[in-house]
Amino acid sequence: MGLLSGDTLGPLAVAVLIFLLLLDLMHRRSRWAPRYPPGPTPLLVLGNLLQVDFEDPRLSFNQLRRRFGNVFSLQQVWTPVVVLNGLAAVREALVYRSQDTSDRPPQAIYEHLGFGPRAEGVILARYGKAWREQRRFSLSTLRNFGLGKKSLEQWVTEEASCLCAAFADQAGHPFSPMELLNKAVSNVIASLTFGCRFEYKDPRIVKLLDVMEDGLKEEMKIVRQVVEAVPMLLRIPGLAAKLIRGQKVFMTLIDELITEQKMTRDPTQPPRHLTDAFLDEVKEAKGNPESSFNDENLRMVVADLFSAGMVTTSTTLAWALLLMILHPDVQRRVQQEIDEVIGKVRRPEMGDQALMPFTVAVVHEVQRFADIAPLGVPHMTSRDIEVQGFHIPKGTTLITNLSSVLKDETVWEKPFCFHPEHFLDAQGRFVKQEAFIPFSAGRRACLGEPLARMELFLFFTSLLQHFSFSVPAGQPRPSDHGVFAFLVTPPPYQLCAVPH
Ligand code: HEM
Ligand SMILES: *[C@@H]1O[C@H](CO)[C@@H](O)[C@H](O)[C@H]1NC(C)=O
Repeated sequence: MGLLSGDTLGPLAVAVLIFLLLLDLMHRRSRWAPRYPPGPTPLLVLGNLLQVDFEDPRLSFNQLRRRFGNVFSLQQVWTPVVVLNGLAAVREALVYRSQDTSDRPPQAIYEHLGFGPRAEGVILARYGKAWREQRRFSLSTLRNFGLGKKSLEQWVTEEASCLCAAFADQAGHPFSPMELLNKAVSNVIASLTFGCRFEYKDPRIVKLLDVMEDGLKEEMKIVRQVVEAVPMLLRIPGLAAKLIRGQKVFMTLIDELITEQKMTRDPTQPPRHLTDAFLDEVKEAKGNPESSFNDENLRMVVADLFSAGMVTTSTTLAWALLLMILHPDVQRRVQQEIDEVIGKVRRPEMGDQALMPFTVAVVHEVQRFADIAPLGVPHMTSRDIEVQGFHIPKGTTLITNLSSVLKDETVWEKPFCFHPEHFLDAQGRFVKQEAFIPFSAGRRACLGEPLARMELFLFFTSLLQHFSFSVPAGQPRPSDHGVFAFLVTPPPYQLCAVPH
């Protein structure tokens, strides 16, 4: 107790304060570099953490953008952050400066999930050989997915039929489509990674979705922001385990599924799916300690594909159905096009897109309007760069505001309305838009884009081929204001699916 008596406490407090001030000054150096982007003055130690409301950062960020412009800086505790807004700044950083902006900020907490130098997965992998190797592997597996007996398009088409059957089981009663959409979409990733699908009642898929949701909630907690900024805190015994409890259970489920595939692998047969193909690479890489093909990384890659490919796609589909019940005229025009091009019997195919400009425009507009990943995934500079004339030092976290591009008022006629004509010319032909970047852009852009587009088109057209969707009688019309949380989800709603 003597140590903390009155006369030592004073000097000790002063010493701690001076130490913190110095440490803080050290971390602010970058702010004084010439042409560093402007931003609010950070508080001692906390930086701008308290000035931004992380539950719904949109309001506070909007004020900052109005005050400081399209490129502004923040400090998350001791991490320098630069936020990029608008097509010009985002494109300059992600596309023209791609080789210097494709790193990811390190996130120490994932070491507790198995993230390590040889097991970085894809999404959070640092910009380097392991990332390049795995990105290439995932992309080529997606592309050559004639691996097993069925092509990926066949898997999606069959899943769409199962989804339609499950919608029909609702017998026209009001229901929320979210859960079924989640199951259908996770079955597509399961078919890619494990060559299997789960019945919608299978307890394993129910559990998978449950823990996935827990994991997403964990990602959003403000404590996570704090420990990411001050990884030292993770030394507190038990803290890391507590913050990622759901994510750990999720990894255990993935481990079980991988083990199952290992047990049924017949090495004399060609690979059945991504896991088999990966295990072949592991065998090939035996004795090469540099390789990112190893058992620890297999679970990271598979987990990444599930977490990046599932909720994103199902949330977009939930938006699509919501927007159809809110805009019955658009729904009718899509159905008319389906009638003309596909008819009532044949299953939709990707090839139909060429003849269905209106439907393709609607799917694009759903993605633009829903704007589900408004801030994308953070990048980090791996070298000093310039963006829009501002100097951004190496090691700065970049937040790319995809939303500011998808809703850029200088590009879109009606940025804040659902307006499929954004993607149609006067003759009703589909037109590409440069500012359409829901999958981000550059070297780190979403690698699942082709699969996501396939799912969006095939699920959407299959559902509208079989059902008309409407707001349940007597229920209020749901709003189209998203719920902001990591991913922007539609407001909870119910619909009626009436066969036609
Ligand atoms: C509508 C659906 C989807 C949307 C809107 C979406 C959006 C995104 C965005 C914004 C990023 C961040 C890019 C960046 O860092 O700049 C991303 C990354 C990624 N996505 Fe998607 N995605 C979707 C579906 C999928 C699917 C189906 C898969 C898997 C098959 C997938 C796999 C990935 C992976 C692995 C990454 C990390 C890429 C890397 O770091 O190199 N995504 N996605
Ligand atoms: C991103 O852009 C949107 C739309 O322009 C804006 O409302 C939001 O505040 C911006 N967020 C950030 C982080 O700058």
